[in-house]
Amino acid sequence: METALRDKHILLGVTGSIAAYKSVLILRELIQAGARVTVVMTSSARQFITPLTFQVLSRRPVYTSLFDPSDEIRHLTLAERADLILIAPATANIIGKIANGIADDLLTTLVLAGRAPLVIAPAMDGDMWTHPVLQRNLSVLDGLGVRVVPPEEGPLASGKEGMGRLASEEKILSAVQNRLKRNEDFKGETVLMTAGPTQEPVDPVRYLTNRSSGKMGYALARAAQGRGARVLLISGPTSLPCPVGVERVQVRTAEEMRDAVLRSLPEATVLIMAAAVADYRPRRSADRKLKKGLEPVLLELEPTPDILSEVRLQRGRRFHVGFAAETEDLENRARAKLEQKGLDLIVANDVTQEGAGFDLDTNIVTLMDAYGETTALPKLSKAETAERILDAIVKLKTRPRTNDRIIR
Ligand code: C5P
Repeated sequence: METALRDKHILLGVTGSIAAYKSVLILRELIQAGARVTVVMTSSARQFITPLTFQVLSRRPVYTSLFDPSDEIRHLTLAERADLILIAPATANIIGKIANGIADDLLTTLVLAGRAPLVIAPAMDGDMWTHPVLQRNLSVLDGLGVRVVPPEEGPLASGKEGMGRLASEEKILSAVQNRLKRNEDFKGETVLMTAGPTQEPVDPVRYLTNRSSGKMGYALARAAQGRGARVLLISGPTSLPCPVGVERVQVRTAEEMRDAVLRSLPEATVLIMAAAVADYRPRRSADRKLKKGLEPVLLELEPTPDILSEVRLQRGRRFHVGFAAETEDLENRARAKLEQKGLDLIVANDVTQEGAGFDLDTNIVTLMDAYGETTALPKLSKAETAERILDAIVKLKTRPRTNDRIIR
């Protein structure tokens, strides 16, 4: 457990919560695990605890201000050196600032200037925790790849009982270690990904499509990029912004997606088909807008090319991942797709389940691999689901192709 933290530069941000005293224990644990910790405090944190406590324990200066004439670019040097930024406790205030790009003190400026992974452990009163604005800000952070260690239920400083107590030191430490372990494990990989729906034209203004939002695929692209991969994202139409550092090609139809995948395929070491590719398209797309009339209209549909099946034979040592969104008989259907499409891994979800599927920020998936193993994941954010899928890829990629493999 210790190795992930040894000699790592951790920037520990402390904000103004009554739980600030627990940061001392977190600091001590980090140092005992071999990390080099620099503490940055907000001005309200200093109302709860003095910088000297952190300075003595970390044996480093504690930073509290953006404006110090002796070191004008402190925020840049501190941010660059950090392997990870941990904010514990994180108040509703700092969560709101980070989610909205506000940088009005040293800690928020460091977060904006840095590219190191960010882990936050919120602590606040229960009513603040459940406030829709706070929850919206958290989902923005989650979407940006920030790891949130949720608070726990119990007695709060206000005297009430509820959600909002800072998570235990063990939980925070293990979130930090997991994030660090995952840091560079995709270095050297080129991940070719698809995401979102496709649109199959009926006429110049109408098309056939599906309910995919692209959120799961984009979360995977962001996570793989964060873990050191070069990510090529072939995206169907979505309103999602391209994750920082990801190379995106936008396409519309299944045919365009296929062509874009084939063009980039030789470069890819991992192919993840998260897109909800249309299975059928209109046989003919009209040149002009179809006129409205009183008679029923028959739309003749033909199958689209199945991209995964088409590239199956060119797989070589490349790792292939498919998705299966089902409404019934999940495991059997997904396993059949794993076999038909010659996949290494399939990510199956029952889209009728609450908390799973289209346009949500959470998902409930089951991973099935070419060795016959099945792992059901609990309901998680799409960001965390993405990390777990990548964990499974890392594990399977290093597994020797022995006889227990059922897909060849
Ligand atoms: O067969 P089905 O569409 O359910 O399979 C889903 C998986 O196959 C997904 O990974 C999807 O991206 C991929 N697929 C494909 N080409 C298609 C349709 C689906 O590669 N035409």
